[in-house]
Amino acid sequence: MNFDLKTLSPAQAAEFPADALLVLVPDTLPKGSSPLHALAAQALKGDDLEPGVGKSLACYRPDGIKAARVLLVRAGTADAVSVRKAVGMGMSQLKAPGITRLGVVFSLVAVDAEGLRAALQICADASYVYTTTKPSAKPRALAKVTFGVSDASALRATFETGKAVVAGVEFAKEWANRPANHATPSRLADAARQLGRLPGIKTEVLGPRQIEALGMGAFLAVAQGSAEPLRFIVMRYQGAGKADAPVVLVGKGITFDTGGISLKPAGEMDEMKFDMGGAASVLGTFAALAEAKPAINVVGLIPTCENMPDGKAVKPGDVVRSMSGQTIEILNTDAEGRLILCDALTYAARFKPRAVIDIATLTGACVIALGAVRSGLFSPRDELAQALSQAGEQAGDPCWRLPLDDEYAEGLKSNFADVANVAGRAGGAVTAAKFLQRFATELPWAHLDIAGTAWRGGANKGATGRPVPLLLQYLLNEAARPADKARAKGKGSSAAAAR
Ligand code: BES
Ligand code: MN
Ligand code: ZN
Repeated sequence: MNFDLKTLSPAQAAEFPADALLVLVPDTLPKGSSPLHALAAQALKGDDLEPGVGKSLACYRPDGIKAARVLLVRAGTADAVSVRKAVGMGMSQLKAPGITRLGVVFSLVAVDAEGLRAALQICADASYVYTTTKPSAKPRALAKVTFGVSDASALRATFETGKAVVAGVEFAKEWANRPANHATPSRLADAARQLGRLPGIKTEVLGPRQIEALGMGAFLAVAQGSAEPLRFIVMRYQGAGKADAPVVLVGKGITFDTGGISLKPAGEMDEMKFDMGGAASVLGTFAALAEAKPAINVVGLIPTCENMPDGKAVKPGDVVRSMSGQTIEILNTDAEGRLILCDALTYAARFKPRAVIDIATLTGACVIALGAVRSGLFSPRDELAQALSQAGEQAGDPCWRLPLDDEYAEGLKSNFADVANVAGRAGGAVTAAKFLQRFATELPWAHLDIAGTAWRGGANKGATGRPVPLLLQYLLNEAARPADKARAKGKGSSAAAAR
């Protein structure tokens, strides 16, 4: 899809050559006498365009307007949430095969940066079609969308960022949507290598022997029941000086989660192909970084394998030694995400990072707690938690902070190892985070549980590409932060604030 941003006055919008215009209409029209004003005024006056954000009126060959199809959509005050809803409703109606060029017209409303970003994202979402293993899927005829605003130069930078996010989201969706037999650990590594050919990005892939040499016993235990060899992917994006401490992103890359010997029930088990959504979001964020080119260093770490039942699979009660030296009693083989992530967190320390953020489809409990609207956010560091929350709000990809009181770790005690990999059912999203926290005590760490937000089930089953928008926004905000002590190598990893 080709996106374009243009200055369009209402008069210019009326003259704009497109197959269709999606015109956002405010509750009170600004003064003016263009054909666009006249049409919107009539529609509002005649009660044909009902009140309520997203309500619409389809017009055909209206007077004085060049485009044959004009869809008026009410956008209220044109805040980001209203724009998302209005443009989303509009896109679902403008599906005619004759529409290859669309104008999304903000000439009658005042749109801000977040509103434009929301419009761009929803247009991209609405026109995305997965085709890799479905050759019969018809891509939408729509080839070009022009966003018409009253001052394009003021929104140019936002627009460019928005396009980078779209590229990242689509990369993440593509890999998360692929079935597990088309997205094996080795194939994910190939995708990372493909990104490694972009300017500023380097990719390195470690295989079984190197992972054994590192002593990643927890990660190896998860992979041992699978015929697919495990991979540990290390990506670097260098946008700042070599001495600048990086942000490390760690993505859970379980390409299929059967539960292992603690086998999951059959219903909806297919959705466990999405259990590499964290890994997909790291890949997508790197794709976006290559376009946005912010002045920051970023490391991406992806432990990736399958979780399978087998004669060689790890069994409930088995004790393994993690790279940190801590032993773990694996009471439930279905709590595998934390096992691959804990070794990746230990590995992350070598980069002396200013922040480490892991992203994981970690717990069903997080889906129960927050549903599909907000990702779960955990961090003992208030500043980091706030920066991530804020980035989520800005990007329209929100999260919600959950607690990390030490009392939640009680249930992780084991008689046979330093720690067990599960506690009871209560507070499952928090106890999972408490497990991870043991491996990040020296790090400025945050954890995003995206089990509810990384994909949709049901008739519209598919990956969402979240939380790529949040992560890119966070990285852009960090890059824009004035150089201060947090930037110097090593300072970000002070243990003082860890609790
Ligand atoms: N990948 C799942 C989490 C998950 C489940 C995400 C359902 C989305 C929907 C994870 O590996 C898992 O199985 N977690 C267990 C943990 C439990 C055994 C402590 C869970 O949430 O049931
Ligand atoms: Mn599991
Ligand atoms: Zn899992």
